[in-house]
Amino acid sequence: MNTMTFTNNMTGASYEYNILAPTRGPMVVDIRTFFADSGMFTYDPGFTATAACESTITFIDGKKGELRYRGLAIEDLASKHSYLEVCYLLLNGSLPTKEELTNFDLEIRHRAYLHRGLHKLFDAFPDNAHPMATLSAGVTALASFYDEHINLDNEDAYLEMAHRIVSKIPTVAAFAYRQSLGIPFIEPDIDLGFTENFLTMMRAYPGGKMRINANGKELIKEVEIRALDTIFTLHADHEQNASTTVVRGVASTGAHPYVAISSGIAALWGRAHGGANESVIAQLEYIGSVDNVEDFIKRAKDPEDDFRLMGFGHRVYKNFDPRAKILKGLQDELKSELNLDTELMKIANKIEEIALNDEYFIKRKLYPNIDFYSGVILTALKIPKEMFTPIFVIGRTIGWITQWIEFKKDKASKIARPRQLYTGE
Ligand code: SDX
Repeated sequence: MNTMTFTNNMTGASYEYNILAPTRGPMVVDIRTFFADSGMFTYDPGFTATAACESTITFIDGKKGELRYRGLAIEDLASKHSYLEVCYLLLNGSLPTKEELTNFDLEIRHRAYLHRGLHKLFDAFPDNAHPMATLSAGVTALASFYDEHINLDNEDAYLEMAHRIVSKIPTVAAFAYRQSLGIPFIEPDIDLGFTENFLTMMRAYPGGKMRINANGKELIKEVEIRALDTIFTLHADHEQNASTTVVRGVASTGAHPYVAISSGIAALWGRAHGGANESVIAQLEYIGSVDNVEDFIKRAKDPEDDFRLMGFGHRVYKNFDPRAKILKGLQDELKSELNLDTELMKIANKIEEIALNDEYFIKRKLYPNIDFYSGVILTALKIPKEMFTPIFVIGRTIGWITQWIEFKKDKASKIARPRQLYTGE
């Protein structure tokens, strides 16, 4: 076993620690006994250099712009597999056979319905409630309907718990959206696949199976289903990001798995994280014209100004976000088939063109991230920007619940309880 030695130059004392070898990525020095050995803490706000767990789910190489789910490259998964196949892959460790996919699909479809009691929850919210508030409350409420004692030795039990939350969250999100419009909910349709079902619950006419709208146009186009399915895949998991860290933190206290997920929803809402996609569109609309871009870039660079370019920068990706690359390609592909907002795209392209050649951004390795591009496509899918982060939630729930299961099965897991550098009285 390789080791690393820390020497305290004040006392001359040395401490030796094992270096743990990953299958991919940086080596890890195991400092779990450091406080007991040295009486000192390490200091790492934001965990910029801290591995909080061991995981086999997702691998990211920030320099290479590489993202893999269970070892498979995101580019292949996004172009050759459905979101449901990716859900199966994350949860079970391998892509499903045809038969496994059929059974998994049916399992997800029939669990999409919500208990009648849950429908009343939405009435408690004002019409202008942000759907993330309703979604987080709805998922917390789900914990009241299902047993929290999940036996991790019983694979059927914990997989059922996982299928249920993956399947119900799109329904809660769609109901939250319909509530905000004051129109009746559309129940899940067991005849429809995951992504088409969500778009139908968002868009269909009350009571009707109407597949075409008043002027005879298809209510939901195949290209829209494919675009949204790809967006779900790109959001499915992302290693130990802020919201996944929160989910694992709540898992570590032994709370109900569904409140760990609603805590992840709350964490994702922040504009520094999953809320960025909504903020990107709000920012592009606020910038308003290509002519104003230069001024806003100046503001983003000004340390005295807290204005930041939404959709730019990433803690891990210091070259490019592979998901952003795929979405940019999807944007170009969809330009002809969907009425992408060319004005917003022009402003986005201008920001990208200037920022990628500006010393401030180059020095800090700030590149467009997934949120920079997803909003333009979601806008073209006639999804309002308030629903962008709920869409991120729908895609990421499979990642959160898979990470929750991995945490609970990991014998090395302990309650999350960091210490501090105390500088008070
Ligand atoms: C997601 O972690 C994940 O994997 C998240 C995610 C996932 O799939 O789960 O990928 C999803 O959250 C993507 C990120 C979405 N957020 C945004 O687009 C919001 C804008 N971006 C920033 O807030 C920021 O870049 C973060 C939060 C994404 C990353 O923050 P870090 O790693 O803590 O970087 P930092 O704040 O320390 O910034 C380093 C420097 C600073 O300048 P200096 O103090 O060194 O002079 O870069 C600057 C920052 O001021 N900077 C920016 C900037 N982002 C960083 N300056 C202008 N505009 C920006 N967007």
